[in-house]
Amino acid sequence: ANNGPLAGKQLLITAGPTREAIDPVRYISNHSSGKMGFALAEAARLAGAMVTLVAGPVALQAHSDIKRIDVVSAEQMLKAVMSQVDKADVFISVAAVSDYRLTEVMDQKIKKNSTEMTLTLVRNPDILKSVADLPNRPFVVGFAAETENVEVHARGKLEKKALDMIAANHVGQADNPVFSSDTNALDVYWPADNGHEHIPSATKQSVAHSLLDIIGQQMSARKTT
Ligand code: C5P
Repeated sequence: ANNGPLAGKQLLITAGPTREAIDPVRYISNHSSGKMGFALAEAARLAGAMVTLVAGPVALQAHSDIKRIDVVSAEQMLKAVMSQVDKADVFISVAAVSDYRLTEVMDQKIKKNSTEMTLTLVRNPDILKSVADLPNRPFVVGFAAETENVEVHARGKLEKKALDMIAANHVGQADNPVFSSDTNALDVYWPADNGHEHIPSATKQSVAHSLLDIIGQQMSARKTT
């Protein structure tokens, strides 16, 4: 199995949520379990790739052959990704990065003095777009969680962030709860010939293998044109 298109390739993958501190005891985050990103890292390892996994705070184990870098916030994740991206042949951005962080993190625990309080947030850097904008970039794969018009929104992101491929989850469907689930279904889109492939609902391990197959095919297809 280790002579496929990903054998010997360097894969950089982000997984899990990020956590944005409010004060020393509180944070803003989301329900990402990290399972899809970890499944992709493991499937890539089994396909013979050298895998670097930048993981937000999750309770998951990675194989000891996977180079794991643990981070907490989006800014830390960006820094870790940028420190590893030069050697990467493929970047797969699975992490559910918090879109905003606190403008100012309190250094003492906030006291409940009033009935209302306001937190001011600022946009986090888009890690995926930062990688896609690099002059000498790897093959860049994004993820998208969509609740409606999956193809339109996914293709929109493919174009706007100038990605090589995007894998879309249709969230909010009975057969695809996505968060913390062990199963997933994906619709994968790429620019050439309006490329599309549907990966039916299966374990995240199985879906990971299918997605890596498609990535391998498209990388090979691109090299011969
Ligand atoms: O635009 P949207 O957040 O829906 O795009 C999702 C994709 O962008 C995912 O691949 C996610 O990992 C990535 N992303 C990122 N940094 C952000 C926000 C999203 O890398 N700040």
